[in-house]
Amino acid sequence: MSAVWALIAAAGSGERLGIDRPKAFAALGGRPLLAESLDRLDRCELVDAIVVAAPPDWEEPSILLAEELAASKVVACVTGGATRAESVRAALAEVPEEALVVLVHDAARPLVDVAVIERLLVPLSEGFDGAVPVLAVADTLKFVRDGAIVETVNREGLVAAQTPQAFLAEPLRRAFAGDLSGATDCASLVERAGGRVAAIEGDPRLLKVTTPADLALVESWL
Ligand code: CTP
Ligand code: MG
Repeated sequence: MSAVWALIAAAGSGERLGIDRPKAFAALGGRPLLAESLDRLDRCELVDAIVVAAPPDWEEPSILLAEELAASKVVACVTGGATRAESVRAALAEVPEEALVVLVHDAARPLVDVAVIERLLVPLSEGFDGAVPVLAVADTLKFVRDGAIVETVNREGLVAAQTPQAFLAEPLRRAFAGDLSGATDCASLVERAGGRVAAIEGDPRLLKVTTPADLALVESWL
């Protein structure tokens, strides 16, 4: 039985990266960015099956990439939606009833490793519906309106959320059955639906590639 499913959200256009193809196919260490997380999740013993949400018109290259990598856990490659949440919903539709846990990961965070997945699974056996890797916020945070600082936000307890995020399949399905508007990550939907989500230690190397500088930095860490 495939108990743990990993969904890779790779369908974004990569507007801010500004290259001639979707971000998932930007070159990182001589292969597409998507290859890094796909390869790592496929080799992770805790993951049983993988679904990729590909950019429109990039389904075929995504399947070919999985074949090239011999990523045998990839069971489906779906067309992503207009937003990240819609892409995840499309991938989630491929997850069978009997799945127990769903990990949702951004292709834009190539350096996913086994340690963070191990940490994520712990709270799921302790009564939590989900778990999210977080990092403390280092900078002072300001609330700005019309170019002027309105308020300096109290940083106490504030963290930045990363992926992969892990969920029990049932509460995740319920969360995605509802309204997806305004959801910047999966956990926010589960929280909104009343689910309990744990915060576990994140990893600075799970940096999200947004700009060319991010890509260069992640490449230097490979
Ligand atoms: N994503 C997705 N479907 C979308 C939008 C985003 O699957 N419609 C995925 C991206 O491929 C990425 C992750 O969600 O792996 C985080 O999104 P982001 O970093 O914002 O990527 P893009 O939306 O591609 O980049 P940009 O916002 O600069 O266009
Ligand atoms: Mg985006």
